[in-house]
Amino acid sequence: MHTISEQYRKKHPSSERLFQQAKELFPGGVTHDRRYLTPFSIYMTHGEGARKWDVDGNEYIDYAMGHGALILGHSHPEIVLAVKEQISKGTHLGACTQAEMRWAEAVKALIPSIEKIRFHSSGTEATIMAMRLARAYTGKSRIIKFKNHFHGWQDYAVIGNADYSSPGIPREVADTMIVLPDGDIDLVEKTLKENKDIAALILEPTGGRAGTYPLKPEFIRWLRQITEKYGVVLIFDEIVTGFRISPGGAQERFGIKPDLTVLAKILAGGLPGGAVGGKKEIMDMITFRNDPDWDKNERISHPGTFNANPLSAAAGTRCLELIANRHEKGGSAEALSEHAYGAQKTKVYSITDRAEESAKKLREELNLVLKHLGVSALVYGLGSTLHIAFGIEYDGDLDYCTVSHNKIKDAMSSEVIPMFRKAMLNEGVDVFGGNWLVLSAAHGDKELEQTAEAFENALVNMKKEGIA
Ligand SMILES: Cc1ncc(COP(=O)(O)O)c(C=O)c1O
Repeated sequence: MHTISEQYRKKHPSSERLFQQAKELFPGGVTHDRRYLTPFSIYMTHGEGARKWDVDGNEYIDYAMGHGALILGHSHPEIVLAVKEQISKGTHLGACTQAEMRWAEAVKALIPSIEKIRFHSSGTEATIMAMRLARAYTGKSRIIKFKNHFHGWQDYAVIGNADYSSPGIPREVADTMIVLPDGDIDLVEKTLKENKDIAALILEPTGGRAGTYPLKPEFIRWLRQITEKYGVVLIFDEIVTGFRISPGGAQERFGIKPDLTVLAKILAGGLPGGAVGGKKEIMDMITFRNDPDWDKNERISHPGTFNANPLSAAAGTRCLELIANRHEKGGSAEALSEHAYGAQKTKVYSITDRAEESAKKLREELNLVLKHLGVSALVYGLGSTLHIAFGIEYDGDLDYCTVSHNKIKDAMSSEVIPMFRKAMLNEGVDVFGGNWLVLSAAHGDKELEQTAEAFENALVNMKKEGIA
C-alpha cells in the first residue's frame, strides 16, 4: 500500500520531470505562488467543461476554474467562437473599437452603480487605479483596508496581509495604509472620526480571500452608511464576486451601492482583463481637461498597451451576455448554453444560479462525508465558491461560517492542506490551493458525485496516515 506522497509521485512522473526543469527557469519553479506544491507541481495540458487533463494523461474535475475566472467552464463553445471571430480580425488595433464599447455596455447592464468604466489588463492594475482615483478625487492620502482581504500584489494592497506581506515595499507606502480587523464597527467608526486624511475604504464584500473569512451583509451595509457620513470613497473589490455571487455581483445580492467597483476574472470571459468603474464624477478624474477654467489642469493618466484588448473584450462580452440571460426555470433560453447546462438544463434559471445550485449540493455532500468519517472540518461558502477548513466544527451557518477569523486563519495555514491537495489530486480532483473550490455552470451531478467519492477516498487515506 502506497502513502499519499508515494502515490502522488507514481501518478505524475512527467510533472515531476518538468518541475525539475522549471526550477531552472522560474523562481520556485512556478509562475503563480498558488500553483506551488511540494515536492513538485502538476502540469496541465488542456481543459473542457468542468474537467482538465495533465501531462501524464490523468483526468481531473477542476475546482480552480482559472483562479475563479471561468463561470462557464473550460473552452465553452460560445467563448471559443467569439475569440476565433475576433482573432481573425486582429488581436490589437491600436485604436478605439466597438468591441470595447459593447464590453462596457455589457458590464453596465449588470452593474448599474458603474456609470463610467476603464479597462485594464488585470485585477491588480484595477485596484491600483481605484485607489489612485479615490486619492485624487478626495485630495486625501490614506486608505483603510481589512486584514486578510486580498486586492492583488501591488504595493498598497499587500500591506497588512497576514499571509501575504512582502519585502521591497517602502515604509512611506506602508504609512499610507490603515489595516483594520474586519467586522469591528466601533473600530472603523473611531478610525474615521480620528483621521481626517482618509480617501477610501476598500474591501472584498463577501469577506477576505473570496469569503474564506466571511462578513455578514449587515456589516457591509453599515460600512456604506458610515463612509457616506465621513465622505470616504467606498471601493468594492468584486474581482471574485462580480458576475458570480449574482449576475450583478455582491452589490446586487446585498443591495448595496459602492462608489467604485473593481472587476477582473469573469469580466474577461477567461482571458486577461480588469476594470474599475463607478460614479461618473470620480471616474472623470481620468477625463481630459481642455477647459481653460480648469485651474489645476490635473488628471490621472491611464495608458496601458493591452487596455480593453479586443480578444478579452470579445470573450468578456459574450460571457456577460450569457450571464445576463436570466430566464424562468425550464424557459426557452436554455438553447443558448446547452454545453454549460448539460443534463440539468430544465432546472436552470441563470448561469450564476446554476453554479450556485451545484455548489450547495456539493457543500452538503462533502459535509456529510466529513460527518460520516468523523473528520473535524467544515465545508462552507456563499454562492458558487466553497472553502474547506480543517479542525473547525459546524457552527450552524454554512453560508457565513461564524467561527473566529483567527481560528479560520489557523485552519487555512494548517499543514494538512497541502497533503489534502495531493490526496485529492491522486483521486482526480484539483482543489485550488487545497482549500478553495470554485464551481462553474459546467459542474453537473456527475462531477459532484465523483468529487464526493474522491473526497471520501482522500480522507480515508489521510486518516490512515494519521493526518485527518
Ligand atoms: C479579491 C481579489 N482582488 C484582486 C485580485 C488580483 O487580481 P489579478 O490576479 O487579476 O491581478 C484577486 C486575484 O485573485 C482577487 O481575488
